[in-house]
Amino acid sequence: MSPRNDIEWPFAVRPLTPALGVEVVGVDLAKEIDPPLFGALYDAFLRHQVLLFNTGELSPARQVAFARHFGEVQVHVMNQYHADGFPELYRLSNLDEHGRPNGRHPDKGTLAWHTDGSWKRITGQATIIYGEVVPDVGGETHFCDMYGGYERLDDTWKSRIANLRAVHNLDFSRTRRHGEDPMTEAQKRATPPVDHPIVRTHPETGRKCIFLGDHAEYVLGMPYDDGRALIEELNKLAVHDDLTYEHRWRPGQLIAWDNRCLMHRATDYDPATQRRVVRRCTILGGAPA
Ligand SMILES: [Fe+2]
Repeated sequence: MSPRNDIEWPFAVRPLTPALGVEVVGVDLAKEIDPPLFGALYDAFLRHQVLLFNTGELSPARQVAFARHFGEVQVHVMNQYHADGFPELYRLSNLDEHGRPNGRHPDKGTLAWHTDGSWKRITGQATIIYGEVVPDVGGETHFCDMYGGYERLDDTWKSRIANLRAVHNLDFSRTRRHGEDPMTEAQKRATPPVDHPIVRTHPETGRKCIFLGDHAEYVLGMPYDDGRALIEELNKLAVHDDLTYEHRWRPGQLIAWDNRCLMHRATDYDPATQRRVVRRCTILGGAPA
């Protein structure tokens, strides 16, 4: 699709799908972003949910500087991933000290649909990922629109979940997906389960969306197995092919997305033959309501 100039933005955007996501054309993230320019970028972010930048080389310092425009950047509890001298950056790599694939996937939890930080009271507002090294095969990132996921539910579903709250638990989702890297007791104590509304209202756009994903374990006030079944069913119902963007990474790309109204996941790749190094920061938002 060809770029178009929306409203009075000082950059062009190229739609990634008819439903969500744009590539931003004409903004150099290697330079300081002044407040009016960031305001326009944030407007595009709220409108399109996913922003893609073909930045080329971008230093960790510039990535963190860009992230700080969005708000407070999370320092992740899983401190084994800190890298590059910035505790705000979470580095996912399958390379050994010689730069060769080590055969281990650094975070299998990313393979299931989820929303970053939903296991915290204050959940992720935006996530900003920069791809340093990307696989030739696999390792894509998928995004699906949770505004649309909600709007396409029938009225029976909407009234059934209108006042329900789900308990999100990082230990649950990590243990379920990959038991080989359990959380330490201190990490568990730092991340007690929290409950959030299943239907949240985006604090800035005012639109309703589904807020579940892989960290959601059970439903408050409902027998555990019934709540599990409801969450599994709704997680599937919420995803629509025509409301999903699949991103095939090239090195030097940066994506910022809105965790409040999207779910995302990574596709698998062979960590024994493919190389993948990405740097991530998550911006703290508020408590979903
Ligand atoms: Fe994620």
